Order: sequence, then structure tokens, then C-alpha cells
Amino acid sequence: MCAKNDEDSLLTTLMDLLNHRGFIAPTAEIYPSRIAGFYDFGPLGVLLKDNITELWRDIFVREPLEPIVYEISGAIVLPEDVLIASGHAESFDDPVVNCSNPKCDAALRADHLIEDVVERSVESLTIEELNQLIEENDIKCPSCGKDLEPIQNFNLMLDVDVGASHNSQHGYLRPETAQSIFLNYRMVQRSMRAKLPFGIAQIGNSFRNEISPRQGLIRMRAFNQMEIETFVDPQKVDEHPEIEKVKDVKINFIPQKPQIEATKNELPDPDHEEHTIGDLLESGDIINQYLGYYMGKEEEYYSRLGIPHEAIRFRHMTPAETPFYSKGNYDIEINTSVGWKEVVGNAYRTDHDLSTHEEHSNTKLQYHDQPTKRKFTPHVIEPSFGVERTFYSILEHCYREKGHDRDWAWFQFPPEIAPRQVHIYPLSRKDKLTNKAKEVFLMFKKEKIESLYDQRGSIGKRYARADEIGTPYCVTIDYDTVEKEPSMVTIRDRDTTDQVVVPVSEVVDKIKQLVKGEIEFLDAGEKFN
Ligand code: GAP
Repeated sequence: MCAKNDEDSLLTTLMDLLNHRGFIAPTAEIYPSRIAGFYDFGPLGVLLKDNITELWRDIFVREPLEPIVYEISGAIVLPEDVLIASGHAESFDDPVVNCSNPKCDAALRADHLIEDVVERSVESLTIEELNQLIEENDIKCPSCGKDLEPIQNFNLMLDVDVGASHNSQHGYLRPETAQSIFLNYRMVQRSMRAKLPFGIAQIGNSFRNEISPRQGLIRMRAFNQMEIETFVDPQKVDEHPEIEKVKDVKINFIPQKPQIEATKNELPDPDHEEHTIGDLLESGDIINQYLGYYMGKEEEYYSRLGIPHEAIRFRHMTPAETPFYSKGNYDIEINTSVGWKEVVGNAYRTDHDLSTHEEHSNTKLQYHDQPTKRKFTPHVIEPSFGVERTFYSILEHCYREKGHDRDWAWFQFPPEIAPRQVHIYPLSRKDKLTNKAKEVFLMFKKEKIESLYDQRGSIGKRYARADEIGTPYCVTIDYDTVEKEPSMVTIRDRDTTDQVVVPVSEVVDKIKQLVKGEIEFLDAGEKFN
């Protein structure tokens, strides 16, 4: 639906604009001591974020008949033991390189620094190989030009000491929401009397002490994830009950093989090709039906969020990029002005998480399958979405520059996810118009449709303000509304600027139908010239 704007400085322009228009702001913006990598959502940001998460709930939690998905909400501080069991305490690391100049305090993400110079991915390389690349390419500190120290591993978790000093307990802010789900597997299975397969979903904050947070909302230190752990009988991972619903969905896909070849022979990264989910399951490029099901639904989700098909691709991660316990990882990448960025990770995590938590907690987490009397540890398929990267991708793809087709920059959000669906305007500030407009405003509020009443400035300026924040429809109350029978209002369409006249008694239903895409704009009423 939304086409991409191609501009180098788009990220910087957008980050400023989003701050100015109340979508996001750097945390503690008014203090010079603010910490990089943290952002707050403003009033419009909260509305957009909530629409992103609600659509996710619809598609991934509420709508599937089978498996049932239960949603939980866990605490963000986890005891150290949990993160020792999960492996995060030992190896949730990124390579850091420090400047050798004592006067320069630069600490940089080594792989990113090298990638900027060699212009190819070095994600799968060891510390020794990265050190060698620094030497071979004579890479210096980008801040002061001096030599760099050897690369070290840096653990990304943020520590917290909980309780008074003499009996405090060591914990961490959770680095992924997934761990709270594994910890609640037993509670959900028992209390819901859940039978395999079933899923547990969670939306919430995760924290990572990123070495160099950058590119605004792309690499942050506190961000939101939407994750589902789907628990499945290991003998049935290739039997998703609703796979038929996605078999014909077309996705842009990069298989493993050409990527391995490219890395081996130092060739450019391979491009994607379009295939159906059914074909990729048949060829074995997607290794099981659960992963195939999620990938098909993810294509639907991002397209409803306003990301064009050609800007969404799925990449089968190479063995070197895949965690040791996973049988297969598939990322979704979205094309942005700063390159293809990972927004979702799909993983077949096997029984790794439940087994390690069973061992470390000394609590049985096995599943008893009544019909067959088998006891086993369920396998897990995990789709893991980043909210802020999704949020930013939508903003980029729905952004329309000033001068493109009007004299102001605007957002062409799909109506169902726009922060506000409708603005209500009295044509003038005369009491009889403002009173009627407030009545109409209340009609929308009662139906919980996100709306705004605005009587300031000329009608043209008010339309421009609606476009600037991506509101798809404006309803204007004029003299025909208060003086004629039946009472009529005008609806203006953001995308075409067309207007139609409808009876006031029907306006809420018409807006609801338009937002759901059930009717075309010009079929909503009589065209106004
Ligand atoms: N439980 C699996 C997991 O956490 P991940 O690939 O590390 O997997 C999943 O993270 C998603 O979370 C990513 O695809 C991305 O959208 C988001 N994410 C991860 N680190 C992030 C960061 N530092 N800033 C913003 N989003 C991040």
C-alpha cells in the first residue's frame, strides 16, 4: 500500500519529525546527561504502538483456532539463576573494541566497525578473525585515529541488585521476554489444562546494554518485544493444524546455500526470490510447518501494517549465525533507508529451554501425553518481533515528503493502524456549529474510535494537521448539518482529498466501514464538489 521514500538522511529527518509531532522523544531529553539508547513514546506514539500490538494480538493470539495461544505478562527482573540456566550469563555477548588512547574513551561494537569498512557481513566470524580483519584493513579508532586494543567479549545484560545491601539478591533485567514464558510453561499448562500444541504469548520490555546504540529505534537499550513460544510434540512439528491457510502466501526468500557460497568466496550478498510457503516447505528450505505457518502470517501482518511486499524479505540464517540449540532460524528483514534491518527472528528452539530450566530449577517440566502415555519435553517454535523496529519501519514506509503531492510532509498509515482514525471539525467557531461538532465527537468517543475535536485555524490548515499525523478521515460540521433535515456532515479522505456527504446518523458506521476497508471511499456517501 505505501511506497518507499529513498533518501539518505531520511532516518535523521524522521527522528526529528517524530519528536516534533509527539510520536517519540529521547528519554530524559531535557537533561544533558541523558543516556543513549532509551526512548519514550509520546501521545501519538502510544496510539500507534498500541495499534501495532493489537493487530499482532488479532493475527497471532486471538484468531487462530488451533493451537490456542495464551497471553501472559511477566516481571522484567529475573533472578541470576534463570539467566545462568538460559546461557545468557555466560554467553550473551557482543565483541567490543576499545581505543588505545587514554584520552579517548571510545568503545565500539567491533563487528559493526569492521562491516562499515569492508562493506560485507562479518556476523559469523570469531574474535580472532575479527582481530585479523582490523589488522589487515588497518582500521583505527574513528574518533581519534589512534590504534585499537584487541577485541573482547562484552555481556549485554543489565544487572540489578534487589533488596537492602546485607541481603540483596543479584538479578538482571530480562534480555528477552521469552524466558518469562518458559518459566510460566508449567503454570499455564496446568491452570489452563492445556493440551499440546499450545502457545504462550507475551508483549513487554526487554533490556540489552548495547555497546553502541544507534540508528534511533533500530538498536536500543530498552525495547519491546512480542513473542510466542509454541509448545509442540516433537513428533508433530511438521503438522501445523492451520497450514493450509498460508500455503499460497508469496514471500521474498533468501535460502541458506547461496549465502554460504557468498561468504566462502567473498561474493556480494545474494538477492531474494519470490516463492510460496507451500513450495518452500516442499523443497525443505522451510524446515517445518510451524515455521512455515508463522512466516505466512508474518507476511500478512507486515503488509497490513503498510510495508510493501517488495520491502519484506525472509532470510534463512546460515549455520554459523544459528544458535547451537536451534534447528533453524529465519529472520524477517525490512528494507529501510539505512539498509535491510531484522525486525523478526523465527527459531526452532527444540527442547533446549525447557530442558535447561528443568535441570537448573529441579522442577519437572515434561509433558504427559494421555492418549499415548508418552512422557517428553515439548519442542518450541518461536516467532520474536521487535516493536520499535516495526514502528520505525512503518513510519519510514508511510512517510510522504513535503512537496511530493502537497505542501506539507504527511503519513499515509493504513487506516486500521493510524494513531487516530478521525478528526471532527466545526466549519467555524459559531456556537451552533461547535455544539453540534462536540455531539458528533462524543458519538465517536462512545464507540471507542480514536478521534480528535479541533476548532482552531482555517479548515485547510486543520486538514493539513490531520495529514501530518496520518489521520485518514476528517468529518466537518457545517450549516447543512445544523439547518437542514436530514442533518448532513462531510467526510474528507486523506489519501485522495475527495469529500463525500453523509447523514450524521450514519457517520460513525461509515467511518468504521472505511477503517476496516469494507467500503470504498466514494461509495460512503454522495460526492461533494
Ligand atoms: N527470544 C529471541 C530473541 O530475543 P532476537 O533476534 O535477539 O531474538 C528479536 O530479538 C527481535 O527483537 C529482533 O528481531 C528485533 O526486532 C528486536 N530487537 C533485538 N534487539 C534489539 C535492540 N537492541 N533494539 C531494538 N530492537 C531489538
